[in-house]
Amino acid sequence: MGKKIFSGVQPTGNLHLGNYLGAIKNFVRLNNDSENNCVFCVVDLHAITVKQNPKELRDNIRETVATFIACGIDPKKSIIFNQSTVPAHAEAAWLLSCVARMGWLNRMTQFKEKAGRDKEKASVGLYSYPILMAADILLYDTTHVPVGEDQKQHLELCRDIAQKFNNDYNVYDFLKVPEPLIQKEFSRIMSLKDGTKKMSKSELSDLGRINLTDNKDDIINKIKKAKTDTLPLPDNIDELVNRLEAKNLLGIYSSLTDLTLEKTVDKFKGKNFSDFKEKLSQVLVEKIDPISSEIKKLTEDKSFLDEILLDGQKKANDFASKKLRKMQEILGF
Ligand code: TYM
Repeated sequence: MGKKIFSGVQPTGNLHLGNYLGAIKNFVRLNNDSENNCVFCVVDLHAITVKQNPKELRDNIRETVATFIACGIDPKKSIIFNQSTVPAHAEAAWLLSCVARMGWLNRMTQFKEKAGRDKEKASVGLYSYPILMAADILLYDTTHVPVGEDQKQHLELCRDIAQKFNNDYNVYDFLKVPEPLIQKEFSRIMSLKDGTKKMSKSELSDLGRINLTDNKDDIINKIKKAKTDTLPLPDNIDELVNRLEAKNLLGIYSSLTDLTLEKTVDKFKGKNFSDFKEKLSQVLVEKIDPISSEIKKLTEDKSFLDEILLDGQKKANDFASKKLRKMQEILGF
């Protein structure tokens, strides 16, 4: 049976290889199965949990749409829309924030990481962000949510919220409890500069990530400078446990070539990093360079991107507003 897919990406610029291998690659695969109904959302309401420059945000929204399409999502098959243009999301988030418990939110590790040491100065939105994410998912009767490993805890919270709403108001199965779709391997791509940190948009140094807008020279340069250790590549997976950078680079190669990590390790065993890095750059350039050129081409055609968003908004709004209306009725409004 077909799945109802929903996922979101923040339009905060610098979409990178982690976003691609951890999430967007999966979106494309799901989009290509005609049995599925897919909704992919540019989550600008989530983006403003951290202060954004309005002009840059506007550009980044379009660039995120361009990235979806450049990576292979077909807007004729999948709904692509911008979260803030469908008011049901913000309203459902309020309704669900009265169901979610403080204790549940207090456990969210991403908030602790993002808020840093001075939690008093974090926005309230950054704290309640996973409730908005639950609203996104639950408004569409989503059955499956493709995400990277870092979103797993937020999805568990979403499941708890759905179950509590259904129980509190005695509406069995009204909010569908979604399943996460997290790849077993490579669902957490690490920084090229530090194998203990996730590859992220917010890392200050651009050398830690391959952006999906990087060109061939950027990619080759970043892989050349990527952190490694002094040993040759190992001949079995077990030896990667304490070699985080080697594991990450081999994982990136595996994911890009659809080879298992075991086979990749076997292919490069005993080689030194410079040989391996050359091959890795090659597969990266083959994959990312065409995406990068396509993003640049598409972002020049603003009206094309705006039309896609408008079309997506109509379809998403039609569905979400009806689900919200039912939620309101259940609550007594
Ligand atoms: P965001 O914008 O931070 O990231 C988008 C997607 O990319 C994945 N990802 C990674 N995967 C592997 N390795 C990495 N280094 C890496 N960095 C990011 C993320 O797991 C994510 O799947 N809260 C979400 C957006 C969101 C959402 C939703 C997702 C809002 N509403 C509803 C699913 C369903 C976020 O901030 O993703």
